[in-house]
Amino acid sequence: MSLESSILFVGDPCPEVKAAANALTQDCDYRVIMASHDAEATDVLNDAHVDLVLADVENRDCDVVAFLARLRFTHPDLVRVLLIGDEADARLNEALARTAAYQYLTKPLQAEQTCLVVKRALETRELARRHRHLVRELKIGEDAQFAHIRTDVPSKGDARHFERLVYASEVMAEVCGLAREVARTDLPVLIEGETGTGKELLARALHFHSRRTSSPLMIQNCGGMRDELLHSELFGHKRGSFTGAVSDRLGLFRAADGGTVFLDEISEVSPSFQVSLLRFLQEGEVKPLGSDVTMHANVRIIAASNKPLKQLVKAGQFREDLYFRLKGFELEVPPLRARPDDIPVLTEFFVRKHGGLLSNRVIGVTNDVLNVLRAYHFPGNVRELENEVRRMVALAKDGEYLTRRHLSPALAKLRVSAPSDGLGFKAEGKTLKEMVESLEGQLVHRVLEKNRWNQSKAARELGLSRVGLANKIRRYALAEGKPGLS
Ligand SMILES: Nc1ncnc2c1ncn2[C@@H]1O[C@H](COP(=O)(O)OP(=O)(O)OP(=O)(O)O)[C@@H](O)[C@H]1O
Ligand SMILES: [Mg+2]
Repeated sequence: MSLESSILFVGDPCPEVKAAANALTQDCDYRVIMASHDAEATDVLNDAHVDLVLADVENRDCDVVAFLARLRFTHPDLVRVLLIGDEADARLNEALARTAAYQYLTKPLQAEQTCLVVKRALETRELARRHRHLVRELKIGEDAQFAHIRTDVPSKGDARHFERLVYASEVMAEVCGLAREVARTDLPVLIEGETGTGKELLARALHFHSRRTSSPLMIQNCGGMRDELLHSELFGHKRGSFTGAVSDRLGLFRAADGGTVFLDEISEVSPSFQVSLLRFLQEGEVKPLGSDVTMHANVRIIAASNKPLKQLVKAGQFREDLYFRLKGFELEVPPLRARPDDIPVLTEFFVRKHGGLLSNRVIGVTNDVLNVLRAYHFPGNVRELENEVRRMVALAKDGEYLTRRHLSPALAKLRVSAPSDGLGFKAEGKTLKEMVESLEGQLVHRVLEKNRWNQSKAARELGLSRVGLANKIRRYALAEGKPGLS
């Protein structure tokens, strides 16, 4: 397993550069990759994980300053260091400003100085990473202040809260009720639900409702991370014990001792990491990389997945023993389209949140807009609703109502008929038989959506046999995700 940091050098591999690259490899255990110009460097960045780029500003084959300036946006975590000749002050200042470089080194490049600057730059990046963690916690705290303020946005039913979760629907009341119960225990919890449904908010609510509330809650997204990095994030590592391990890392399990660790996108971890995690769940033992000492951490694990883990287990992609360890208790957050009653209260909450943030006072939301939002199928769930409302608020002028013209084009063109009853169904057809059938189709569709197309559960809820339900699906040509629009 390797944790070495990678340095990309862009420029002419002259003897001083080769000497510095040698020192970075031999003395500091970094991996050095050479590229002579920007196109080659871009290929490297697409193929390999790179931590720091050191680029010669005087490269004749490309505009290095423009290249580094682009990297600020395409690879924001990459540390940029300039190598300069005898640039005039004004040119150097401009290059530093455009590239937001961490530092510059002057020619001829000196090996020892290069190692020191690179090492310091990577330490600074590690500090920035920890800082980001804390800022994220603070930002979430800031959002909380909007949770208990009412606006004059029309809404049906009162908003209820579970920590920072806002809801009005019965299904969410049920989920939050279960969560409150399980919060009191120390059981591991597995939260499943589509993307953007609020799994992370629910995990936070669980922690802050548990007796661990005064200890830390640490969050780790397991998606898209190399095994060794994930290992070091969770279990920690010792400085110098690993190639490129520039400073000690405590690891989230120990940093959260007494508290909770939330493992997001748990379905993404590799088979070998699943073994490490299982061992931790069984024994509570933490052994940082490069350390002989085994320590213990008392943390509660909450894991989340937007892919049903059970199916991954069946397909042999997730260990069954780990699955059973993680799901001490299971919570499923339903998709937003299965709980339209949450839409008005969430809209109200987001109008307040973003209206306040953008100092742009919106006096309300028309019923027409609420009807469109209720009818839309929101594949991105609450996150998508929040983005939509944020966009509408940004477009509105002071003192305006949010109307259909503020909606994004995809939603603005939806034709919805006003709900004909309190449940949002509309009877279609001329004869009683046609109307009853149209209502039946809509009702069956809603129950299927609510149960995420689990036909056994839906059939049970509707009091039908599985075959009976399958007949109705065929009869009404029902399909997953199809919005109930006219
Ligand atoms: N019930 C809710 N009340 C208020 N805000 C919510 C609610 N549900 C979700 N949100 C907001 O929607 C966004 C997405 O929520 P969250 O990150 O918890 O979803 P997720 O299920 O973890 O998504 P993913 O699977 O993509 O990680 C966040 O900005 C969150 O604040
Ligand atoms: Mg999440």
